Amino acid sequence: MKITVFGSGYVGLVTGACLADAGNEVVCVDIDQSKIDLLNSGGIPIYEPGLEQLVQNNASAGRLQFTTDVAHGVAHGLFQYIAVGTPPDEDGSADLQYVLAVAGSIGEHMDEYKIIIDKSTVPVGTADKVRARVGEVLAARGHEDLQFDVVSNPEFLKEGDAIDDFMKPDRIVVGTDNPRTTELLRALYAPFNRSHDRLIAMDIRSAELTKYAANAMLATKISFMNELANIAERVGADIEQVRIGIGSDPRIGYHFIYPGIGYGGSCFPKDVQALERSAGENDYPAAILQAVEAVNRRQKEVLFRKIKDHFNGDLQGKLIGLWGLSFKPNTDDMREAPSRVLMESLWEAGARVRAFDPQAMQETHRIYGDREDLVLCESPDEVLENADALAVATEWKLFRSPDFDRIKTVLNTPVIFDGRNLYDPDFLRRRGFTYYSIGR
Ligand SMILES: NC(=O)c1ccc[n+]([C@@H]2O[C@H](COP(=O)([O-])OP(=O)(O)OC[C@H]3O[C@@H](n4cnc5c(N)ncnc54)[C@H](O)[C@@H]3O)[C@@H](O)[C@H]2O)c1
Repeated sequence: MKITVFGSGYVGLVTGACLADAGNEVVCVDIDQSKIDLLNSGGIPIYEPGLEQLVQNNASAGRLQFTTDVAHGVAHGLFQYIAVGTPPDEDGSADLQYVLAVAGSIGEHMDEYKIIIDKSTVPVGTADKVRARVGEVLAARGHEDLQFDVVSNPEFLKEGDAIDDFMKPDRIVVGTDNPRTTELLRALYAPFNRSHDRLIAMDIRSAELTKYAANAMLATKISFMNELANIAERVGADIEQVRIGIGSDPRIGYHFIYPGIGYGGSCFPKDVQALERSAGENDYPAAILQAVEAVNRRQKEVLFRKIKDHFNGDLQGKLIGLWGLSFKPNTDDMREAPSRVLMESLWEAGARVRAFDPQAMQETHRIYGDREDLVLCESPDEVLENADALAVATEWKLFRSPDFDRIKTVLNTPVIFDGRNLYDPDFLRRRGFTYYSIGR
């Protein structure tokens, strides 16, 4: 089948590469010329396990093309995916300018029937706006007679596992108002839907809300556990024991109940906010969502407060080693990463940071540039040199079993601030460390 994907970021690139891998002919369109040049030269603009190889295989087989040529993109695919960003607007609601710009481009260039598939995470009612924008542009061209359908097909992939999630999805949500489109999408997704039918067809508005509901639920679990961790600390309980105690209840389960220093990334923060704003616009104050957001904002400051308290409120001239910069392991994504709140608070308090991350060094440099109070190190070991303490912000596997003797020898003082509860408090205390973690 012929497919066009607008947006070559985490979602668009994975979608395009996976659909091409199933034998489809895919054209990926992006407005960022440097991204397209990089993709055409065999590189990829993001770190996602397995993606580079998948892109290269399918590009060299001629099934996957990259272009900035919008007219070519629109002419190519029966299926026109919208996978562009929906960042928060100033008031926290989803900014639809990129989505609607793609809708405008499709209306501008289409000259036959198209199925427009919205994969970006968008508020309820966006499909109607996309339909209206395409219709307006077609009318301005005198082509009101051209037919098209708009489908909501939210994406549930996780960065770090994106290819697996796309190739073997838990569910494929398809929101349409036309049964024929549902069947066409069923055929399109058949290669990813073989063991049993995971396609869930529903109306468009429900599909749009399903994506927000999923992310809001996951964010709620995290904020709930962080709230509990803060309570555990104050009442003398150990959140890790509590976690195991509640996870054993199958109605609760062990997934996604890890305490830490807050959720980040390109999805949870903006999606919880956008849903909360959407509710507000419809005269419903979404109290749970407001609390989830507030708890998360506070949680991102917890590690800094522990560091500050440890040094009696005076961080001037202190050097803090930091392991982990990406918002979670197996990605280079730094959007809304808790490490950023920590570093920025440390700098404001007069401290300097030496940092290492297995994948996000380039991204960190892109965001912060060269600055005197940040040294980007080449290894976890290098971070420790002359540091007054070590902080851990991301639970990369690499940080799980470090050489504690070495850490103790190299750090100026043997202090660890663990934002992800990676280590055993008793073990570290016995080894002579002062050890701070979350909720224990
Ligand atoms: N990243 C995730 O894990 C994830 C998961 C599920 C859903 N989503 C949702 O998918 C959407 C895309 O997210 P992302 O992380 O891939 O974003 P991204 O920022 O990585 O990529 C978006 C891309 O769209 C391009 N773009 C912008 N305007 C364009 C236009 N008019 N035509 C063509 N390309 C254009 C940008 O240049 C950029 O390359 C968002 O709505 C997001 O909420 C993201």
